[in-house]
Amino acid sequence: MSKEINQITYNYKVVRQFAIMTIVWGIVGMAVGVLIAAQLVWPALNFDTAWLSFGRLRPLHTNAVIFAFGGSALFATSLYVVQRTCQARLLSDGLASFMFWGWQLVIVLAAITLPMGFTSSKEYAELEWPIDILITIVWVAYAILFFGTITKRKTKHIYVANWFFGAFIITVAILHVGNNLAIPVTLTKSYSIYAGTVDAMMQWWYGHNAVGFFLTAGFLGIMYYFVPKQAERPVFSYRLSIVHFWALISLYVWAGAHHLHYSALPDWAQSAGMVMSLILLAPSWGGMINGMMTLSGAWHKLRTDPILRFLVVSLSFYGMSTFEGPMMSIKTVNALSHNTDWTIGHVHSGALGWVAMVSIGAIYHLIPRLFGIQAMYSTAMINVHFWLATAGTVLYIAAMWVNGIMQGLMWRAVNTDGTLTYSFVESLEASHMGYLVRFIGGAIFLSGMFVMALNVWLTVKQKDAVALDTVAA
Ligand code: HEM
Ligand code: HEM
Repeated sequence: MSKEINQITYNYKVVRQFAIMTIVWGIVGMAVGVLIAAQLVWPALNFDTAWLSFGRLRPLHTNAVIFAFGGSALFATSLYVVQRTCQARLLSDGLASFMFWGWQLVIVLAAITLPMGFTSSKEYAELEWPIDILITIVWVAYAILFFGTITKRKTKHIYVANWFFGAFIITVAILHVGNNLAIPVTLTKSYSIYAGTVDAMMQWWYGHNAVGFFLTAGFLGIMYYFVPKQAERPVFSYRLSIVHFWALISLYVWAGAHHLHYSALPDWAQSAGMVMSLILLAPSWGGMINGMMTLSGAWHKLRTDPILRFLVVSLSFYGMSTFEGPMMSIKTVNALSHNTDWTIGHVHSGALGWVAMVSIGAIYHLIPRLFGIQAMYSTAMINVHFWLATAGTVLYIAAMWVNGIMQGLMWRAVNTDGTLTYSFVESLEASHMGYLVRFIGGAIFLSGMFVMALNVWLTVKQKDAVALDTVAA
């Protein structure tokens, strides 16, 4: 390694900040998730207070877990990976700092406005127009920082993890601006420029690709860097990773119509969405297999390394949810699953099993390196966290599958005279036990996050958190 490379200094400050906030926002977002899960078991928990009602806290939960928790994990990892793999410091420290504080401001504004009831009512894009503009500005700063660092790189090629992060940054920018175009009426109210079916189509083009690029492509970037690093093995197939990349990004964008089956959207568009979703299984599993096979010859490490276990189990959940998704996009299956808890189970097998677990694994990998410490304070605590997270996820999704299939079957059951066999309230009563189990599963998952916070606190305390901005490549 040349002398010049040995003298590279990285900006780890912003990575440290986002890594810590991943844990903080993870706890906040999941705590709200546990609260709304509890409200579905004991409705009195809204205390007859508007801002504590399910309808207001649900978007707070989704925004907090996706954009605050997931976003912080993506920013921490992408800004770390781009520096390490390009052997270059971030383009600008000032821009990095602006991006960190700008994103925190977005989150705080969301946490204030959503419980107050200000919403554009588009799922996952609820925030009102002034906050949308702020998001756009912060996102542009992020794009300049990320791509600017790539242009400064000392390596010849661009490592595949950066391709996934890059696609995530560009696509989310297009989606955010496209779907949020609106006419402001007051500071807190605006109307979408789209109407009727076109509005629904734009919304689910956005919604599905928020899943595809925010909750998937970016996290695949995490997978491609942290799985090989933690397993200490090169990625199984670099060629497969390139095929995976192009296939995934070119297919995802056509599948959004599966959210609008049996709606006013033209039938051919629904069918096209279904077919594209089925084809999407192939690149999704290609990526999952590429990650899994990276462990060839290193499987024994799973016995002793709970961080690797987090990463590998996240890949299994990724494989499972990307099998389930294409199945649910088949119109006849969707006729049963749509609007039931089955969707919620699918969401959380992706969200808890894949997104949260891969992020947690990556953050455990990062924390000692960012703070210049040998290892995490306690491996046993990571192990406990692993089992809490796995048990919590399984309880959550199993309860929702049972509830969802039962609800779908009860709603469509008809008597011989053509009348409905069950009233809606009967299906709700039958779902009660599933909601209780989901609440318990969620609480278990959340308790694991507290174990993580304690372990990280004890780790960082070991070394007085001395800034370690000078690290050899
Ligand atoms: C302790 C963990 C969690 C609990 C207890 C929890 C609980 C809930 C509950 C009760 C709902 C509302 C379901 C309904 O309307 O019937 C929900 C929705 C949702 N949650 Fe979570 N959640 C957790 C973690 C997460 C994480 C980590 C993510 C993402 C990374 C996530 C993403 C979502 C999404 C996207 C929805 C909306 C689903 C839809 O509209 O179909 N959740 N969650
Ligand atoms: C090949 C991959 C996937 C396909 C084809 C797919 C397909 C689907 C389908 C058909 C639905 C139900 C739509 C409805 O009936 O309303 C759905 C819902 C959803 N999926 Fe997936 N899915 C995939 C992967 C994932 C992953 C990995 C995640 C999370 C990380 C995820 C998150 C969601 C969310 C959040 C919803 C609920 C949207 C809403 O109604 O609010 N999906 N998906």
